[in-house]
Amino acid sequence: MPAAAPRRILVTSALPYANGHIHLGHLVEYIQTDVFVRFQKLRGHRVIYLCADDTHGTAIMIRARAEGRSEQDLVAAMREAHLADFAGFQVAFDHYGSTDSPTNRRRCGDVWRALRDRGLIVSRQVRQLYDPEAGVFLADRFVKGTCPKCGAADQYGDSCEQCGATYAPADLVCPASTLSGATPELRSAEHLFVTIESLHDFLASWTSASGAVDPRIANYLAGHFLGEPLRDWDVSRPAPYFGFEIPDAPGHFWYVWFDAPIGYLAATDEWCAVHGGRLEDWWGRDEAGCPRAEIHHFIGKDIVYFHTLFWPAMLESARLALPTKVRIHGFLTVDGQKMSKSRGTFIMARTYLDHLDPAMLRYYYAAKLSGGIDDLDLNLEEFAAKVNADVVGKVANLASRTARWLEATGLSADYPDDGGLFAAAAADGDAIATAYEACDYARAMRLIMQAADRANAYVDAEQPWKLAKAGPAAAARLQEVASVALNLFRQLAVYLAPVMPGLAEQAGNLVGGPIRSWDEAGRPLAGVPVGRFTPLAQRVDRGQVDAMLAASRPPDSPPSATAGGLKMEPTPQSPADPTGPLAAEPLAAECTIDDFTKVDLRVARIVTAEEVPEARKLLKLNVSLGGDVRRTVFAGIKGFHEPATLVGRLVVVVANLAPRQMKFGLSEGMVVAASGAGVEGVFLLAPDAGALPGMRLR
Ligand code: MSP
Ligand code: ZN
Repeated sequence: MPAAAPRRILVTSALPYANGHIHLGHLVEYIQTDVFVRFQKLRGHRVIYLCADDTHGTAIMIRARAEGRSEQDLVAAMREAHLADFAGFQVAFDHYGSTDSPTNRRRCGDVWRALRDRGLIVSRQVRQLYDPEAGVFLADRFVKGTCPKCGAADQYGDSCEQCGATYAPADLVCPASTLSGATPELRSAEHLFVTIESLHDFLASWTSASGAVDPRIANYLAGHFLGEPLRDWDVSRPAPYFGFEIPDAPGHFWYVWFDAPIGYLAATDEWCAVHGGRLEDWWGRDEAGCPRAEIHHFIGKDIVYFHTLFWPAMLESARLALPTKVRIHGFLTVDGQKMSKSRGTFIMARTYLDHLDPAMLRYYYAAKLSGGIDDLDLNLEEFAAKVNADVVGKVANLASRTARWLEATGLSADYPDDGGLFAAAAADGDAIATAYEACDYARAMRLIMQAADRANAYVDAEQPWKLAKAGPAAAARLQEVASVALNLFRQLAVYLAPVMPGLAEQAGNLVGGPIRSWDEAGRPLAGVPVGRFTPLAQRVDRGQVDAMLAASRPPDSPPSATAGGLKMEPTPQSPADPTGPLAAEPLAAECTIDDFTKVDLRVARIVTAEEVPEARKLLKLNVSLGGDVRRTVFAGIKGFHEPATLVGRLVVVVANLAPRQMKFGLSEGMVVAASGAGVEGVFLLAPDAGALPGMRLR
């Protein structure tokens, strides 16, 4: 057991973007980190777990605009949602800040000054696509067009999903801003850069030799970045930009990835303001240049560059301590595929919580995380089977089939002879701890479940239910057997506490009081009362999982085949059939092809969408028929579609409809949508990928 002095450990998870809700992919990281933190605290170390919302950038600015609110308002609302989701999953930060805070602005200024003082900031003109209608410079993913290599339409500004080519947004054929549909212009603007090449040698040796970076990642960095001179890093954006204006460069703002990692420092400042101490206690270096604390960053593999090259370069320049470990994990897939909205596997944290027990996901992720960078698959079939077998069948079951016989008597006065079972699991403690320390939770869970198997085999062999039937003659033996089983259960609960804090709490309530230390797995309890048993975990059934998937599909996606209402019948039905699927709305009178061609249906892109507060059903949409051709239409889809989620999507409009003056303004067309068949809802039509605004339906 650890007799050494407690370590001081600062732990972070990456700061989630404030422009979206937490989903099960994010939770791979936050649960992994939280388990690590809880483990270290249980071991008696001094740990602080810090995080914050990452609030700045173009995306938030655009979203706030589309929703007609201030960025601050949007950010505040998202913060509440994030905090509720994290609390729901028992992710327990010691402090949760925001990059849009005065503390962060101050810290950014400090780091900036350090970079300036070292002569690392230079200024250069940058040519970038600009949306003349929205009045903003466009990040790569806000530009779409035709791939210059293969000709595939509707590709993002940096790479083609069809042929995999990468290119500059300016190379796209027929580029269009996804914000307004306007053709972007190439404009020149001044940007500020950090010349990190002067830290090349430092970064090469830090990434390869400090032990902070997994060797596989260090090799990747050596191969992709460090083999040639490091390119200057563009850290400013011209106005308009939601962020901090650079004090010595008015009209220029720090790029979001400059102020985001500094958010780790600001969160530390804010924690210190409440709990005492100074930033230097955690991020400082002592006289010998050694860090005063351990720093562990948990991140996903998509943001490795920022955390292993750029961030250490900033810390080094500011003479702060470098990360002890950058712990990198892979991405979540669901049933072997990328999370997908249409399949219902893009599961938000909230949706999961509406249907299932968070402890089960925590256990499942733990059982699959081995500390490497491989992707993690949430296989829904396996999820239910695994948590039912392990959490319910092995762990909870151990208590549920023995605790009640001890309610009256409590545990035996002396811990009975158990054939060495408790001692064997206690002896596993070091191996389990080593696995937790390495973030190889999968191994920790395997060792714990092996101990659980041995404990259950003991109960099976001793058959306490038979002892209970045998009456007073067997009462003493029954108490012994149940005391052994309940001690083995509590021992498992100690080992599982980092993963399942709720279970640990229930175990404490049942016997022995709150679990406060890892060492409690080393000594059995005797002669203490046993509380009333309450069920510890519910089995997961497939129905709950399916309900969660159904709730994760977008409201306007086609219902699954079983819903039936909107499906065409395979056999022709007479329109007059009073009981057939078309009974409620019989087919209209026959028309000719000429009648049809009179109606000019076009693909259009929604540019803006806003509520019409006075109207019960209407949203006001501005749609682009390509380039500058615009139409304002009022669509009766309020309540079925969030205005913000409509912006950018393609729909079908009747483009030659005579304009009509409505109470709220002039309507210059009509968005077509499906409805009826006894199903509530208004279903917008969307063309196949590749369709462009202006295309005619024929
Ligand atoms: N805001 C940046 C991080 C700034 S840190 C100074 C960011 N935010 S994020 O919301 O996109 O992601 C937050 C973390 O969640 C990242 O570490 C990211 O890798 C992780 N994940 C986001 N989606 C994920 C999956 N689908 N699977 C696993 N992890 C994922 O990046
Ligand atoms: Zn292509």
